[in-house]
Formats: sequence, structure tokens, C-alpha cells
Amino acid sequence: MLNFEDEVMPTAAPAAARMGALAAGAAPVAEHDYTIASVSTGRIRVEDKRLINGNADVNQLVPIKYNWAWEKYNAGNANHWLPQEINMSADIALWKNPNGLTEDERRLVMRNLGFFSTADSLAANNIVLGTYRHITAPECRQYLLRQAYDEAIHTHAYQYIVESLGMDEGEVFNMYHEVKSIRDKDEFLLPFIDTLTNPEFKTGTPENDQKLLESLIVFACIMEGLFFYVGFVQVLALGRQNKMTGAAEQFQYILRDESLHLNFGVDMANQIKLENPHLWTPEFKERLKGHFTKAVELEYRYAEDTMPRGVLGLNAGMFKEYLRFIANRRCQQIGIDALYPGATNPFPWMAEMIDLKKEKNFFETRVTEYQTGGALSWD
Ligand SMILES: [Fe+2]
Ligand SMILES: [Fe+2]
Repeated sequence: MLNFEDEVMPTAAPAAARMGALAAGAAPVAEHDYTIASVSTGRIRVEDKRLINGNADVNQLVPIKYNWAWEKYNAGNANHWLPQEINMSADIALWKNPNGLTEDERRLVMRNLGFFSTADSLAANNIVLGTYRHITAPECRQYLLRQAYDEAIHTHAYQYIVESLGMDEGEVFNMYHEVKSIRDKDEFLLPFIDTLTNPEFKTGTPENDQKLLESLIVFACIMEGLFFYVGFVQVLALGRQNKMTGAAEQFQYILRDESLHLNFGVDMANQIKLENPHLWTPEFKERLKGHFTKAVELEYRYAEDTMPRGVLGLNAGMFKEYLRFIANRRCQQIGIDALYPGATNPFPWMAEMIDLKKEKNFFETRVTEYQTGGALSWD
């Protein structure tokens, strides 16, 4: 009989034989048996679907229950892009010109490539080896497959920038071991990723369901929703000053993808809360607040390290306020009160960077004849 492990490590039994066993109705459906058709009728009923610990057949996409997931899957496809579509020639000329950028600007570019080049691989592994198998709604899995591909594109984008600029790839890709402000962020994330990717970990108890929810929130709201934002602001600020416009455009597409990932993660967390209200205890909320507080500290240290002096009209103090503003927003999205009441956004221009559809391509660097989808046609 098909079981949870079959999805991760397919058995040698031919699919037809397994389907035959199912058709014969040989065995009752076990609790949390994530791949088998549901309950007595054998046909999916939308009301039987659950985001976690569901018994409905994960191989049947329809009937769709979680429309927000399906909508985001379609939005992700409409946003499709590839790194090679972006013209890097101005960046290459600027980077190779000894007077093209200041030392502080070069440090900012290098450090951000160092953080992001491995962060998106961590993200992809977390989705594929962790999150995916614990989610029992096929429409959410469909989105996670798109998200995993987005993360591959992002890693590719960083590699493409590093290669285009002729950087020392060993230096960039090893920064997550060698640069403390980057390593500290990754070390904060690793226990949560390890929880989900541990082959022994299974949902189905309140304790483990809380751990899953905690990891999902840390991944979406802190990793994708907070740890990326100092870098996004910095590289996009370069682009706004007409420097490194190709790299900035790549970051702009990545930011757009990440804001979708974040919102999907928030929707998943809120749906899990709705279906499992017993998980949302005062102690659990306090634990999450502790994570947000720690994350703001780590990201602020990263801001200081990437930008030891003021650069591009930015300084570390502005980021302290920005991170508090972002943390408030993330908390509120999942139903926790603002941690830093009154924090304001010192970078209101970031909003237009996220919502590309309303804007013409900001940096005007795209190879004009190349378009992949309707959402990329701004003219
Ligand atoms: Fe990403
Ligand atoms: Fe992401």
C-alpha cells in the first residue's frame, strides 16, 4: 500500500500493482497516509482536504480547496524570468573600471552576493527535502514545486552575476562559512530547516505540528521576509543611482518572486492556524516573538557589516528602523501584535520595486525583444 515514505523513496513495487491493491480496497486508510484516496467513497471531497495531516489523496489536484495557493501558482508562472535575459554589459564595464565604484560599494555588492548565493540553495533544499512532504494539500504542493524552481533560478542569477563580473567564485560562495554576519544568519536558520528535513520528523502530534508551523513561519517571515531585505534595499539603491543596473534588475525580479513566496508562506501558516487552533498558544507566540527579535538583531549586524560607513545615502541607522518596520509587518501578517510600535518605513520606494506590474521596467536594462510572458510586457 502506498504510504508516506513512498513519496520520498519510491519502492520497487510497480505502480500498477500498487494501484491494483488500492482498487481492491485491500486495507483501510491509515491516519496521515498522505498519498491515498480519501475516506469511504474513495472520491475526493473538498471538505476532507487539510493543509497538514490530511487524508485526502495528494495525487488529485482537484477539487481545489485552497484557491490562494492555485492563484499564487499561476502568478508565479506569469512572473517567470531567466537571468540570461538581463543585459549585464553596463555592470561589467563599471565593475572592471578601477574608478567605477567606491570600495564601500564593492563590499556591498560582494557581501550580498555572498549571502544570497547560498541562501537560495538553503531555501530550495528546505522546500524539496522538508516542507513539501509535510504539506497534504496538492494545490499547495503545486505552488511549492514552482517555488522550488524559482529558488533554482535565483541561485542561477547570483552565479550569473558572479561569472559576468569575473568575481572569485570561491570567495563569494564560501562567505556563508567565512563571513561572520552571514554565517550567523544561516546558523540561526539551520535548526528550523533541520527539523523539516530530518527524515525521522513526522507531523501528527501537537508538539510536532507546532514545530512544523514554527519552521514555516521562520522560513517565510524571517528568512524570505526579513533576512533578504537589507540586501534587496542595498542593491536596488545602487540601481536607483544608475550603478550595477543589471544586477539590480535581477534583484528586482527576485524580490518580486520572494514577496510571492512570503505571502504564500503566510497564507499556509494562517490556514494551519485556522485548522489547528490548539497550536496557537500564548507560549508559542512568545517563542515566535523571540525569533523575530533575534532575527532583527542579526539582520542589523549584517547591515552594519555590509555597510560600515554610510554609502549611497544609506546608513545602518536607517536599516534599524526599516527592520523594525518589516518585523512589525511580518508579525501582523500572522496575527502577532507589532513588536516595535511606531516604526516607520524609511524606504517607501521599495513598494514600487516589488510591484513590477504597475511599473515600466525600472532600470531599463532588459533586452527589449526578449519576453517570456504577459506579465513581463510593460510597454
Ligand atoms: Fe529565492
Ligand atoms: Fe524564496
